[in-house]
Amino acid sequence: MKILITGCAGFLGYHLSKALLLNKKNYVIGIDNLNDYYSVKLKNKRLNFLKKKKRFHFQKIDISNYSKLEKIFKKKKIDLIINLAAQAGVRFSINNPRAYMNSNVLGFFNLAELSRIYRIKKIFYASSSSVYGEKKKFPLSEDQKINPKNIYSLSKKNNEEIAEIFSQYYKINFIGLRLFTIYGEWGRPDMFIIKYIIAVIKKNKFFLNNFGNHFRDFTYVDDVVNNILILINKKFNDKHTILNICSDNPVSLKSVLKDLSKSFGKPYIVKRSKQLADVYKTHGSNKKLISITHYKDFVDIKVGLSNVIKWAKKNINFLKII
Ligand SMILES: NC(=O)c1ccc[n+]([C@@H]2O[C@H](COP(=O)([O-])OP(=O)(O)OC[C@H]3O[C@@H](n4cnc5c(N)ncnc54)[C@H](O)[C@@H]3O)[C@@H](O)[C@H]2O)c1
Repeated sequence: MKILITGCAGFLGYHLSKALLLNKKNYVIGIDNLNDYYSVKLKNKRLNFLKKKKRFHFQKIDISNYSKLEKIFKKKKIDLIINLAAQAGVRFSINNPRAYMNSNVLGFFNLAELSRIYRIKKIFYASSSSVYGEKKKFPLSEDQKINPKNIYSLSKKNNEEIAEIFSQYYKINFIGLRLFTIYGEWGRPDMFIIKYIIAVIKKNKFFLNNFGNHFRDFTYVDDVVNNILILINKKFNDKHTILNICSDNPVSLKSVLKDLSKSFGKPYIVKRSKQLADVYKTHGSNKKLISITHYKDFVDIKVGLSNVIKWAKKNINFLKII
């Protein structure tokens, strides 16, 4: 199968590409614009691992650039698209809203439009748990009303809406993945766990938002990848399916902090109030996902954290320079 993965140098894109390439029948066309939202060295490191694989082909392209993107569709017969490229991060969206419109809204539209023209049958795309907004009743299920609080989540809601309309008019099957706080090896330095680890290594200040009084449905990257691998081989009766991808197990940031400080040490912590774009709690139901994938062995946060710590200890010299 020829699979186009956008955002292949990103955290999830890297892990998913790597897993897909283990199957000799898969050929991955990876694209990424390698922007500097966070360390380009980290993105290149992931990319260099992928470039060692024979059936991986990389092109540096921005998905908001329609004509460059079209060249790929003209040259390669693509069987499946997995769109992970996006401007991520809720806090960054407050001061940089345009980046979300370009990459997430226009970029996603370009992929949908090219799929229409080049008759691609199936697109998986990354939505986000943040589309739910601030909620009081948990766990969050896919049929609940969504209520984005910032431009990032609004851009993901917009993806779901474009997918809904395109799926009705054209023969494209869309699967929207509402991803909940993913963590793991080679993870994002703008997210809690890796940010903490880097703060310890570099002796940076670590800002603890809302004094640590948040809950997150942390989901280990291998669980996300394994579920997507299963979903790729499923037939979907609905033209557009939305799925929570989560471990269904909210954990308090305070307890993650405690585990991290025990096993990796303590940075200088600056406690501060709740940030405007943040929600108090995320906790998704993964019932719908499990009814399709039958995947039940979600990695316990203690095990996942210990894997990340082992990885960090092995890669301290690299983490120092990102
Ligand atoms: N990591 C999480 O916890 C999480 C949670 C919810 C949703 N998501 C979504 O999942 C997807 C993957 O997340 P991630 O954590 O791997 O993020 P990431 O930032 O590590 O990866 C995204 C990649 O896309 C690339 N990119 C950005 N804009 C692009 C553009 N216009 N054209 C081409 N490439 C572009 C970036 O350079 C980056 O390498 C994103 O869509 C993100 O919004 C992630």
